[in-house]
Amino acid sequence: MLGQRLVEAFSGRHEVLVTARSGERTLDITDEAAVAECVAAFQPDWIVNAAAYTAVDKAETEVAEAFRINEHGSAVLARAAGASGAVLLHVSTDFVFAGTASQPYDETQPVAPVGVYACSKEAGERAVRRFAPDHVILRVAWLFGPGGKNFVDTILKFARERGALRVVADQYGTPTFTRDAAEAALRVLERGLRGTVHAANTGVVSWHGLAVEACRLAGIAAVITPITTAEWPTPAPRPAYSALRNRVLEESLGMFQRPWQDALAEHVALRGEVK
Ligand SMILES: NC(=O)c1ccc[n+]([C@@H]2O[C@H](COP(=O)([O-])OP(=O)(O)OC[C@H]3O[C@@H](n4cnc5c(N)ncnc54)[C@H](OP(=O)(O)O)[C@@H]3O)[C@@H](O)[C@H]2O)c1
Repeated sequence: MLGQRLVEAFSGRHEVLVTARSGERTLDITDEAAVAECVAAFQPDWIVNAAAYTAVDKAETEVAEAFRINEHGSAVLARAAGASGAVLLHVSTDFVFAGTASQPYDETQPVAPVGVYACSKEAGERAVRRFAPDHVILRVAWLFGPGGKNFVDTILKFARERGALRVVADQYGTPTFTRDAAEAALRVLERGLRGTVHAANTGVVSWHGLAVEACRLAGIAAVITPITTAEWPTPAPRPAYSALRNRVLEESLGMFQRPWQDALAEHVALRGEVK
């Protein structure tokens, strides 16, 4: 989902080699020899990694596979970047935080991941810091956008089909439009920023609040009942509060992301939803 928007954002301004696990130009990020060969052939200035094991609940039972992709795959890319002198921009997540805060997390705050997916992503961050001296770890959160499975699209589909939904109202975060995150990635690399950078939209809302606003924007009159996490048990634990604050983007680049509501309105409009 995010990868497609990164390609879109970078393509107009830079020469881009797009790889994926399947399709025209295949590259498995866990295949060290293939990654080294690809990097040697293309000699990129930047390597942008949006590939990951992203099935949060399934990861609880596919622990080895989650770590193989999110930790080992990140290490492979980091070593290739380190050896070739390329900058690695690696996408990470708000789930690296424990979720016990009550104010948005900025880049200086300590991580404390909970659950297999979160731990595997945090291990990936450590691999990138260890093996790629020239890196950006770009943390995004609660992604929505065209071309991928995401909460907003799922809610709109079910709200339309069923007319009534129950949605968790005691987990808070920062919904982020993939187009805005991709634009931030481009700006960060073009401006030569390094280190850990948060690139969420702004604002804080619960999944329930996000569902209500998405349906309002799409003109769907569904009944959306707030429920607690305890009423919607999932295999993987979720942080209760994982909102991000983009301190580095704002202070180092003067880049201010728009509120999640504005970005959501654009996404809903682009989906062709009627108000
Ligand atoms: N979605 C969110 O809400 C969210 C929130 C915070 C952070 N993030 C992070 O943002 C990034 C992008 O997420 P997304 O939602 O766009 O994910 P996505 O739609 O699930 O895309 C991940 C892509 O990675 C590919 N992939 C998996 N293993 C690979 C491998 N070994 N080699 C090459 N490609 C591989 C997948 O290919 P297949 O299609 O073949 O499986 C898929 O195309 C990830 O780092 C994720 O952790 C996402």
